[in-house]
Amino acid sequence: MLGTLENATKALDFVRKGLQYNLPNGWNVIGEGSARIALLGPDSVVYKVEYDGFVYEGEESQCESEYRAWKKFGHMSFVGARLAECNQFVIDNTPVNAMEYVMGERPDYKEMAKYRDRTREIEYQTGICDLHRHNILIVDNDDIVIIDYGL
Ligand SMILES: Nc1ncnc2c1ncn2[C@@H]1O[C@H](COP(=O)(O)OP(=O)(O)OP(=O)(O)O)[C@@H](O)[C@H]1O
Ligand SMILES: [Mg+2]
Repeated sequence: MLGTLENATKALDFVRKGLQYNLPNGWNVIGEGSARIALLGPDSVVYKVEYDGFVYEGEESQCESEYRAWKKFGHMSFVGARLAECNQFVIDNTPVNAMEYVMGERPDYKEMAKYRDRTREIEYQTGICDLHRHNILIVDNDDIVIIDYGL
C-alpha cells in the first residue's frame, strides 16, 4: 500500500496549521495547484491536501474524484501514458491522497504539441479531464505520467 496513515495525518495537520512553508526535516512542498498542495514526505510519497474551505458542501472534492478515477482506470493500459499510483486516507472526514512521487519533466508549451494526441485520447476514453501540461510529467522513456486527474 502506498503511503501511511501517520504521514497523511501529519500532512493534513501541517496544512491546517499553516505550516507548509515551515516544514520539519524530511518534508518538502513539491507543488501547489489551485485546490491542493502536494507535500513530499520522508517516505518519498506525495501527500495531497485540499485547502480548507475549497470544497463546497455536497460536492465531490478533487481528492475524492482523483481516487475514484484511480479505482476505475488505474489498471488500464494506455499507449505511452499511465496514471500515477494513488491511494487515499480519510482523516476526520477529510481525504488526503497519497501518490507515487514521479520524477519527470513538465513539458514546455512547444513540447506539449507532441503529447496532445495522447492526452486527448485518454480524455476521450476515460472522461478524465484537464490533462494540460501542469498535470502530467514526462519520464525517461518519453511516456506521460498523469499526476493530477479526476472525473
Ligand atoms: N505525484 C507527483 N509527483 C511529482 N510532482 C507532483 C506530483 N503530484 C503533484 N506534483 C506537483 O505538484 C503540483 C500541484 O499538484 P496538483 O496538480 O495535484 O494540484 P491541484 O490543486 O490538483 O492542481 P490544479 O491547479 O490543476 O487543480 C503539480 O503541478 C506538480 O508540479
Ligand atoms: Mg494540477
